[in-house]
Order: sequence, then C-alpha cells, then structure tokens
Amino acid sequence: MGDRFRPSSFQSPLLLILLLLAGGGGGAASGPIKTIVVLVMENRSFDHMLGWMKRLNPEINGVTGQEWNPISASDPASGRVYFRDGAHYVDPDPGHSFQAIREQIFGSNDSSADPAPMNGFVQQARSMSDNMTESVMNGFRPEMVVVYQTLVQEFAVCDRWFASMPASTQPNRLYVHSGTSHGLIGNDQRSLALGMPQRTIFENIEDAGLSFGIYYQNVPAVLFYRNLRKLKYISKFHSYEKSFKDRARKGNLENYVVIEQRYMDSKDNPATDDHPSHDVYQGQMFIKEVYETLRASPQWNETLLIITYDEHGGFFDHVPTPVRGVPSPDDIVGPDPFFFKFDRLGVRVPAIMVSPWIKKGTVVHGPSGPTSTSEYEHSSIPATVKKIFDLPSPFLTKRDAWAGTFEGIVQTRTKPRTDCPAQLPTPVRIRRTEANEDAKLSEFQQELMQLASVLNGDHLLINFRDKLKNMNVREGIAYMDTAVNRFFEAGMSAKKMGVDDEQIVQMRPSLTSRNVIP
Ligand SMILES: *[C@@H]1O[C@H](CO)[C@@H](O)[C@H](O)[C@H]1NC(C)=O
Ligand SMILES: *[C@@H]1O[C@H](CO)[C@@H](O)[C@H](O)[C@H]1NC(C)=O
Ligand SMILES: *[C@@H]1O[C@H](CO)[C@@H](O)[C@H](O)[C@H]1NC(C)=O
Ligand SMILES: *[C@@H]1O[C@H](CO)[C@@H](O)[C@H](O)[C@H]1NC(C)=O
Repeated sequence: MGDRFRPSSFQSPLLLILLLLAGGGGGAASGPIKTIVVLVMENRSFDHMLGWMKRLNPEINGVTGQEWNPISASDPASGRVYFRDGAHYVDPDPGHSFQAIREQIFGSNDSSADPAPMNGFVQQARSMSDNMTESVMNGFRPEMVVVYQTLVQEFAVCDRWFASMPASTQPNRLYVHSGTSHGLIGNDQRSLALGMPQRTIFENIEDAGLSFGIYYQNVPAVLFYRNLRKLKYISKFHSYEKSFKDRARKGNLENYVVIEQRYMDSKDNPATDDHPSHDVYQGQMFIKEVYETLRASPQWNETLLIITYDEHGGFFDHVPTPVRGVPSPDDIVGPDPFFFKFDRLGVRVPAIMVSPWIKKGTVVHGPSGPTSTSEYEHSSIPATVKKIFDLPSPFLTKRDAWAGTFEGIVQTRTKPRTDCPAQLPTPVRIRRTEANEDAKLSEFQQELMQLASVLNGDHLLINFRDKLKNMNVREGIAYMDTAVNRFFEAGMSAKKMGVDDEQIVQMRPSLTSRNVIP
C-alpha cells in the first residue's frame, strides 16, 4: 500500500474499515484537493511584504503612502513618519516581545482601545535604535518581491489574516497546527524544549486514515510539539533537500505537507526564512522552488499551497488588530506579569493561497463566519483542513472552531486551470554581503538549538546553555545536523528493536551511548 491515502467522505464506519483493509485510496473525495502544503515564513507584516501590491490590484487592502505613525504616540505635535516603498535589507531585528508589540499596536501600555490605533510602531522602533524607524515604516515594491507579485496576480491573496496572538515566533507557529500555544506567550526555552503537550492536526489527520509529511532543513520546528517526537511519527520526517522534489515528481506527497525553511544562514546554504537579517531574496527563491516543484508534479491538480508568516516581526501594518470577540483557545491564562487571556489577535500578516482550482487574481477579505467576530488567523489552517478533508475529529480548541475557513476559494470551478505559470520570475538580490557564519546565534536560533540539544540529550549537561551562547552560526549548523540525524537514527533502531511506538527516544548526553527510557 502506498503511503499516500486519499481523503474521503465515508458513508459509514464499516465502509471505512473495509476500505482500510482493502489498503487502497478508494472512497469519494468530497472535493478536488488531496494535498495541502503549508509553508510559514518568518517575521514580516502584510504591509511590509504585500502592502504595495495595491498598486497592482486596488481591491487589495494595502497601502497608498498616506499611512503614518507619530513619533510619539502621546504627543500629536511630535511629527509624522509616513510609510514608504523603500524596504530593503533589514538588520538588526525590530522589536517583537509581548510588550513591544503592545506598544506598536496601542501606542502605550493600555490595551483597551477599540479599534486598536496601530500608532506606536515608530515610537517603539525609536526606543531601539535611530535607523530602526526606517526599517519598520517601509514596504517592498512589488518588483522587489516578484515571486509574490506573480502569485498574488495568478492566485489568491488574503488581506485580512492575522497572527494568532500579539507575541513572538514560537507561540504563533504553535497555533498553525494546533489552534493554541497552550499558554505560551514568549519563546520560553524550557517549555519548548520539554515539548508542548497539546493535540495537533497531525494526529487528527492520521486518525482519519490520511497521511502527513514534514520536509525539514536544519531542524524540524514542529518537534516543539511533544507528540510528534513519538517513534510512530519518525518516518513522517523527510529531509527537504533529499526528498521533496523526488517525492513530488513521483506523486508521493502526503495529504498534509509541512515544509520548513532553512533557519540557519551559511555561505553555501543561505537561510530561506525571511527572518531579519536573512535575505528576502533567498526566501523568494525558496518559494519559487516549492511552487515550481508542485506545479510540475502529477499531484498539481489536487494541491493547495498556503503561504503565511508567523508574525509581523515589528513591521508596521495599518489594519487594526482585532481585540473583541476572540475566544481563548483553552482558557489557559498566560504567566506573570501579563496574565494574557489570549483574547486578542496579533498584527496582520501576509497569506497567499495557490492552487489550479483558484480563480486568477482572487482577493479574500474577512470570513463570513462561523461567528460574527470570526477572523482569518493561523488556526484557520487546521479549521480549513478539517473541512477540506472531512475530518471527523472535533475541533482542536475553541479557537479553530471560531476561525474563518477558506475552502470556498477552491470550490468555484468545475475543472482545474491549465494556464498556471510553470515558472515564476527570478527575484533580485537584496543583501549585498554574504552570510556571516561567525555571527552569534539569534534568539530564535538559540531556541532551535535548544530543541536540537533535547533531541540528542545534551540539554542534560549543566554547562550546555553557556556553550550554546558561545556558538556561532557555523558551529550551530553542524551541531543541529548531527543532533537531528542521531535522533532519527536512534528512533529507527528503536523501532526495529520493537520498542512501543508511543515512546519518545531519550538520548544520553554522551556522544556515543543511546538509550530508550520508557
Ligand atoms: C509600560 O510598561 C513598561 C514595562 O512593561 C514600563 O517600563 C514602562 O514604564 C511603562 N510605560 C508606561 C507609560 O506606563
Ligand atoms: C542601524 O544601526 C545599528 C546601530 O545602532 C547598526 O548596527 C546597523 O548596522 C544599522 N543598520 C542599518 C541598516 O543601517
Ligand atoms: C490537470 O488538469 C488539466 C485539466 O483537466 C489537464 O489538462 C492536465 O493535464 C492535468 N495535469 C495533471 C498533472 O494531471
Ligand atoms: C523574530 O525573530 C526573533 C529571533 O531573532 C524571535 O525571537 C522573534 O520571536 C521573532 N519575532 C519578531 C517579531 O521579531
């Protein structure tokens, strides 16, 4: 039996069992989409990446250049900084802690304003460095990001999609596949290393007899979900470089495919995640490669690709962040000192959907349900996957039950398009220098290193954190590669030895001995 299984709306449990025993695809798919590919980029707002696409299509809620922020949110006479189209290479990283984002959205510590004024971006940036203002108040001209320019013109852009919460990378990434961050509001290295306990869409997909696959580079960040570390899922992880193109060419992509970028920047293999200071050119080249691979695959006619960004990265956006009627996913309250109730969303981020079933030049605004306050945010991904694949399991949390779904965009045609470009244009280079392999690890990279160290057991070493702080990017890349390979190898051996599939391999910190602790 092939590892790719077709989603279906089965008539009865009995039929389901028979079909499973028969071992084949079978069943009538309720719609044309059998493969959903998810790609989450890093740290950029909608206006920064796509705001100027309004020049291509006035229907897009982007920017005109009339958008501005005061220098001081509390002093109307302090002068204005207007949003421009001169985005280029950004280094260092704009502010993105919970406090920094609150100041960007509300201009102060008081988060009661509705609508949110979105007037503290300049003030917050200036508190970091003088030239930061220029970084956050600029967007890319469409010709600087030609891959997106083409995708927006050819397929669908959603101009009302928000980060799930006003906080940093990892909590928002967790929402993408589980509809909650399980109380996490920051990049808390300890809980992330331990692994987050919540149920994920991966488990719901597997329970429905469908398949999933993760194509990673460096380290798979989805291993922050503890359950995915179990032996039974080891075979779902593939090296992007070694397997993605090959499996796509053979028509072997799974029903739910997650592609992770290269988070580490080296001269030979530059980072592709768009995270400042990484070059957006590399991110564009990466998306071009993913698109062209899918476009050439025999599975193209059954594919939906979703590209979004985990959060806005401190960059300005003019659309007020929704602050009313947003349900807490699971009633977990965030830690001291904010006691955040997970009851408002983050800043608007880009979202692009690609499929031959999508009408050329589609612009998706807000959803029309399921409730009057529903919005598109990262939990819209599990919610839409549930609809497209008819998953019988309940929603993961109250948040994905509330989030808008967008299956409608692949339901307007009776046949797939045949005019989708086979190739996308080649973007311009933005960064003029090459990767700095001697750079210290960023906070985000340190979190990923922490994850790698848990996989190979080194986190148990007392001095590991200091070691990590002193590592540069070159050393980090080598460390991650080894750690991830050892974890997967040990998992394979444990499986061969017949260890219970529900177990997670625990490595001893020593570089040679391995052990499976039940
Ligand atoms: C806002 O809160 C921060 C700490 O979170 C504090 O340093 C700052 O003084 C506060 N600002 C105002 C205006 O209360
Ligand atoms: C911005 O200023 C910082 C120092 O305040 C400097 O390190 C950085 O290189 C500058 N960035 C740009 C793009 O000029
Ligand atoms: C996709 O569907 C179109 C229209 O039916 C057809 O012309 C094309 O050959 C199909 N492509 C693949 C890869 O099956
Ligand atoms: C961006 O990247 C940093 C790591 O460099 C990460 O800690 C942060 O959560 C991300 N978000 C923003 C808004 O920068």
